[in-house]
Amino acid sequence: MNVPFRTHRLATLMVLWTLAWAGVASPPTPPEPLYTERPGTPDGMGKWFLGREIAHYMTHHGAPWLERPEREQEERPKLLLDALGIKPGQAVADVGAGSGYLTWRMAERVGPSGRVYATDIQPEMIAILRTNMSARKLTQVVPVLSTPEDPHLPTNALDLIILVDVYHECEFPYEMARGMTAALKPGGRLVLIEYRGEDQWVPIKRLHKMTEAQVRREMALHDLEWISTGRELPRQHILIFRRKAGESPIQPTVAPKQAP
Ligand SMILES: C[S@@+](CC[C@H](N)C(=O)[O-])C[C@H]1O[C@@H](n2cnc3c(N)ncnc32)[C@H](O)[C@@H]1O
Repeated sequence: MNVPFRTHRLATLMVLWTLAWAGVASPPTPPEPLYTERPGTPDGMGKWFLGREIAHYMTHHGAPWLERPEREQEERPKLLLDALGIKPGQAVADVGAGSGYLTWRMAERVGPSGRVYATDIQPEMIAILRTNMSARKLTQVVPVLSTPEDPHLPTNALDLIILVDVYHECEFPYEMARGMTAALKPGGRLVLIEYRGEDQWVPIKRLHKMTEAQVRREMALHDLEWISTGRELPRQHILIFRRKAGESPIQPTVAPKQAP
């Protein structure tokens, strides 16, 4: 059959439009391979993601440092949590919670009717956190022993997830961000607090800082939109992303699990 030239051109245009729309509507595909390995620096894993070397994580021996009194002045945790507007009754998560320095402060804000999932990959950190939360009689905190690839959070359930000085040392940042996005309710916020990589005077080792540009590049691979970057803290920036509205096709790879 002879297809008229105009019909043929219309069909081609429709195919091109559909392809273009699909490209705009879905997040960009991750780079292949996701990670590369080569000799790195002493602070790093020798593993690279989107041009940055991933830092070694802080072991549980660093827990006293997380609780140092001068941290109040250096990091201003109250100012940080004020900026996030946590409300009573909300379900939130402190991913990479360590000793729970931020966890109990979040728990006070969500109150007894709320929930704070406090995750960490080190059983020793979870044990320290559990002791600290019991001392404060905070029953709304759910300690979660997670894995480096999966935050082990409930799906479509959270209003807010924060990571304070954690994301740069996640061994699988792509999988972690994917799992955290799936854990958020549509419209829920993912907040990364990192020492500012742009500021040379911030007295933290280079691999333990991140630039705003790098964080945004990495989050652009997910179903997230950037909302704002707060610079009110002395040394860190507060990068706020929101899960796009609508059901995400992404599911976490492992079901949520509470630490024993
Ligand atoms: C520098 S500490 C910060 C602890 C806490 N956020 C704070 O500000 O006090 C980083 C913590 O992140 C944890 N961590 C590293 N990778 C993780 C991951 N993929 N999932 C959950 N926790 C992780 C480490 O075990 C460590 O306890």
